Amino acid sequence: MGATPLLVVEGVVKRFGGVVAVNGATCSVAERSVTGLIGPNGSGKSTLFNCIAGVERPDAGQITFLGRRINGRSPSQICEIGLARTFQITRLFREMTVLENLVAVAHGLSDAAAVRRAQELLAMVEVGHLQHALAGTLSYGQRKLVEIARALMFAPKLLLLDEPFAGINPRLQNRILRYLERLRDRGVTLFLIDHEMRILLNICETVLAMDAGEIIAEGAPDVIRKDPRVLAAYF
Ligand SMILES: Nc1ncnc2c1ncn2[C@@H]1O[C@H](COP(=O)(O)OP(=O)(O)OP(=O)(O)O)[C@@H](O)[C@H]1O
Ligand SMILES: [Mg+2]
Repeated sequence: MGATPLLVVEGVVKRFGGVVAVNGATCSVAERSVTGLIGPNGSGKSTLFNCIAGVERPDAGQITFLGRRINGRSPSQICEIGLARTFQITRLFREMTVLENLVAVAHGLSDAAAVRRAQELLAMVEVGHLQHALAGTLSYGQRKLVEIARALMFAPKLLLLDEPFAGINPRLQNRILRYLERLRDRGVTLFLIDHEMRILLNICETVLAMDAGEIIAEGAPDVIRKDPRVLAAYF
């Protein structure tokens, strides 16, 4: 590998009152890589993603994307420079159709081009037939697929995925794996949170392990899953 880092996180701290959710996390994500982030419940994974995507403002530290400091920028500014994310709990507009959910976030496209892009992305994740359904009527797995398609409306260089495989059956997990492989092959860098080693072994070159707000280990997935610090944190 040795590829240039696309994303660099240095000493990021995020506190909520007395809770230190992220406690000096430092890591980087190589361009065109697939990097996994694991860690016990409450270890700060989603909060770290929120800091990277500008949803939360870190109390300390620095985040650099494409060589530019992004901490302190708004989520929409961060999206514009090519970093998009999906949420652990999907945040679709329930009263809008699937297609409208995608078109609503289009930026710098004519209406016709936005609809065209949205339909292509829905077809890519094989939910084109749901384009006119209200998002609130979709199943949990369908919402996850639509949320991935929506994040891709930004044509991101880096896509953060917060537990895209959680709570869905293995068949849908395998479908999502295929879509992510396709994105990787098109040059999208992927940074994803998940608990399931089966998935991470399948797709990640590198896995970062987080515990109590810090990155405690980094390496190939088959090494990380046997790392004593990781085992101690999980079990
Ligand atoms: N908005 C918030 N206000 C207060 N505390 C928060 C907030 N968001 C997260 N926390 C706390 O920060 C810590 C880290 O939470 P976070 O959601 O980042 O963990 P996680 O690693 O994503 O966990 P999980 O695997 O369960 O999704 C937890 O103690 C949580 O209660
Ligand atoms: Mg989380």
